[in-house]
Amino acid sequence: MSRTPYIAGNWKMFKTIAEAEVFVSGLLPRLGDVDGVDVALCVPYTALGAVVDSTRGSRVEVYAQNMHWAAEGAYTGEVSAAMLNELDVHGALLGHSERRELFGETDRALQQKVPAALEAGLAPMLCVGETEEEREAGDTERKLRHQVQEGLEKVPVERLAEVTIAYEPIWAIGTGQVATPEQAQEAIAFVRALVAGFDREAAERVRVLYGGSVKAENAAELLALPDVDGALVGGASLDPASFAAIVDAARG
Ligand code: PGA
Repeated sequence: MSRTPYIAGNWKMFKTIAEAEVFVSGLLPRLGDVDGVDVALCVPYTALGAVVDSTRGSRVEVYAQNMHWAAEGAYTGEVSAAMLNELDVHGALLGHSERRELFGETDRALQQKVPAALEAGLAPMLCVGETEEEREAGDTERKLRHQVQEGLEKVPVERLAEVTIAYEPIWAIGTGQVATPEQAQEAIAFVRALVAGFDREAAERVRVLYGGSVKAENAAELLALPDVDGALVGGASLDPASFAAIVDAARG
């Protein structure tokens, strides 16, 4: 089963609309005719409309960085799937570790968000990963099992393969301390096996990305691993040249 490599940038709370426009005009010529690689940008809410417009006709897919599960309601400060759809957004990043650690995002909420995104026609990208303490305590698999099973629990089996999962060890995010190829392969193969627990065929099709200090210099080695289908890139996605170099690495 060959899965198309997927390179997603996560801008976090960086870039105004003006800065996002400068980025896109620097990125598109560098991507040329990207073939054989899917490319996504996870953009702050305020710049979504502008980035959707300026990437239209290119292969760049635009994601929000969060989404509420409800169709509408008294949820001050939240954004619904319908609001994202109106902007022609492709998908939503869900459960990033910064949302979990800093803003109280729970597995229970994700259990509702992942199917809600699919239902609304948005592609969900679900983030999972262990802390340094959990890894040291030998708890990595327990943590991943919990996060993957909760996050996918309410997804109809026939739609499981539409979810992208990003394995991001928290100790590797923004630290420059990238997982070793062995650690990345082992954890991602485990995530795939968890998906197989729901459905074997979906596990062959689902894309599982690695995230955590991915740079142009280490991307090729990670992307060559058998179970690693792409990368979720934070810091190195803020500059068009370094992000395009990672996309290049995925072209093989
Ligand atoms: P990083 O962030 O590439 O800066 O480590 C990855 C992420 O948080 O998705």
